[in-house]
Amino acid sequence: MGEKTVLITGASNGIGFLTAVKCAEKGFRVIATMRNIDKAQKLDVQIKDKAARDRIIIRQLDVTDETSIASFKTWLSKGERVDILINNAGMAVGGFVEELPLDAYRQQLETNFFGLVAVTQAVLPLMRRQGAGKILNISSVSGVIGFPGLSPYAASKHAVEGFTESLRLEVVPFGIDVALIEPGSFQTDIWTTGTTIPEQAARNNSPYKRYMERMKEKMAASRPNYEDPVHIADQLVRFSDKEKLSALRYPVGKGVRTMLLFKKLVPWKLWERMVHKQLKISSMKEE
Ligand SMILES: NC(=O)c1ccc[n+]([C@@H]2O[C@H](COP(=O)([O-])OP(=O)(O)OC[C@H]3O[C@@H](n4cnc5c(N)ncnc54)[C@H](OP(=O)(O)O)[C@@H]3O)[C@@H](O)[C@H]2O)c1
Repeated sequence: MGEKTVLITGASNGIGFLTAVKCAEKGFRVIATMRNIDKAQKLDVQIKDKAARDRIIIRQLDVTDETSIASFKTWLSKGERVDILINNAGMAVGGFVEELPLDAYRQQLETNFFGLVAVTQAVLPLMRRQGAGKILNISSVSGVIGFPGLSPYAASKHAVEGFTESLRLEVVPFGIDVALIEPGSFQTDIWTTGTTIPEQAARNNSPYKRYMERMKEKMAASRPNYEDPVHIADQLVRFSDKEKLSALRYPVGKGVRTMLLFKKLVPWKLWERMVHKQLKISSMKEE
């Protein structure tokens, strides 16, 4: 493989971090961006191979901060090449619609959607001039299915899905591949650092308290089955390495393809019944 450059957002932790490590080990040159570059020390601990570590360039980038994006764009314009962009930075806000402040939705969309759009806009002129490039937008199963208690996150990932469909149609003629990566559940910090369900609905007088408790039970029971994020990092290296990405959507994780297909095929009413049955939710009307 000739040395290709991969640009990753949110490379300080989780999937982005592991992908940066794996891409460098595979021989890619990596621009690992993170909002707090002090966290880059983790890379020194993780990577034993000096040549691989030397292939990683760290750059500060907060995808929600216009100044940070502008200075990153200026740096990029000084002769950088980007062959693959992995729009990975993200967080998850949970909670019930009735109880969430509008700002929670704004914060969620700022990071997962507007941040992704801004970075894409920064990189597109380069790829267009190169006449080649690949953009991997990290969506989620929640980009296709809305789960209860996760409406901000689902909304942000659905927005990423629609945006990516349009983007692909626009830029394929310029030689730029665009794909959606739709992971299932992986063991990272995202489900503990951003999710606000416990704070909001845990109040004793919350009408959603019972709902929230069922969801917490369900999540606790399924968490041990969440996959190791190393698997998705390996997949992202493979996607980066591929000559062409012919498909638009790539579900990643155990059972994800089947679940998405099932959701597509069964009528909504049946799906709804199944979700509520899983959560042991029946009527919640006030007596
Ligand atoms: N884990 C899963 O099960 C799962 C499933 C489906 C999709 N995903 C998606 O995968 C992506 C990575 O998530 P993860 O699971 O690896 O979570 P994670 O471990 O919490 O990592 C999230 C990364 O995004 C960064 N980030 C957050 N806000 C940012 C901002 N404003 N600017 C720049 N970076 C920012 C974080 O930086 P800090 O270290 O500074 O916080 C961190 O590096 C997300 O898009 C997520 O929605 C994850």
